[in-house]
Amino acid sequence: MKNGIARSPLFYVGDKYKLVREIRTHFPAHINRLIEPFVGGGSVMMNVDANGYLLNDINSYVINLHRMLQGYIGREDEFMNELYTIIDNYELSLSLRSDVVPKNLKVANPKTYYARYNKAGYQRMKADFINGGQQDMQRLYLLLIYGFNHMLRFNGRGQFNLPVGNVDFNLNVQDALTDYFQLVSQKQIEWHNEDYRQFLGNINYQPEDLVYLDPPYLITFSEYNKLWNADTECDLLSLLDNLNEHGINFAISNVTHYRGRTNTLFQEWSAQYHTHSIKSNYISFNDNSIKQFSEVLVTNY
Ligand SMILES: C[S@@+](CC[C@H](N)C(=O)[O-])C[C@H]1O[C@@H](n2cnc3c(N)ncnc32)[C@H](O)[C@@H]1O
Repeated sequence: MKNGIARSPLFYVGDKYKLVREIRTHFPAHINRLIEPFVGGGSVMMNVDANGYLLNDINSYVINLHRMLQGYIGREDEFMNELYTIIDNYELSLSLRSDVVPKNLKVANPKTYYARYNKAGYQRMKADFINGGQQDMQRLYLLLIYGFNHMLRFNGRGQFNLPVGNVDFNLNVQDALTDYFQLVSQKQIEWHNEDYRQFLGNINYQPEDLVYLDPPYLITFSEYNKLWNADTECDLLSLLDNLNEHGINFAISNVTHYRGRTNTLFQEWSAQYHTHSIKSNYISFNDNSIKQFSEVLVTNY
């Protein structure tokens, strides 16, 4: 664990690993339940203490990966042995155990040798995962670890379609898994797999609950932003107004400025609450005035 912050072993695109230290300074000192409708890889819940956790994501693969990992708590060696068996079955490299990539491949492809070495095995593993009905979460976890940018990417027909990446199962992966097992074993977690409206609507809120939200951002680009538009954003903002009227604390992350675009919908809504600047990058364009990237946390307390 670097500087006391744990990285999620899902290495989730757009995770809050680098920002959670700053974000949590704006959280209440005591949290009854941390409620996350958009949990993703879980880098916030991993690094925040609470009595309990209600965690949700609309992506069933994400939730099933968490459930699979949690199911191996206390049986971590078994999990690693099972992964090693699959890795060996597909003849993938495993730099954590030994360096099997031939020297001539490294010399000829100094920047892409893992991708070249693992390509055929990765394709076989991907085909087996798809043909098996995409239920095998261990294979999916390895597809993510050996895949391009550690993404969970599916095509229009719902088939996993990430190409091999130039990465393998290394010490970072093992460390992230060790931290996850250790941290999650100490937490009381309930996992949910619903749309955020359904999830938040079914909770019996208790004193000192905190709802932390990290939705897709309307003005940035990533895989899960396909699921997000002005309607989902509007629904979310009015739902938060409703929580506020009922005295429930919330904190929401968002990006208000990105490459010359502005999320005015969010910005205007947030004027009634407290805005904390989390990470702002003022790289300007020709007129020296446009903010390139500006990330905020908005709280109602
Ligand atoms: C910015 S990511 C969250 C990242 C997370 N904070 C982390 O550190 O890994 C946003 C998440 O929202 C989920 N999502 C998108 N639309 C949703 C919806 N309507 N209801 C619930 N979750 C949704 C996506 O699957 C994605 O995992």
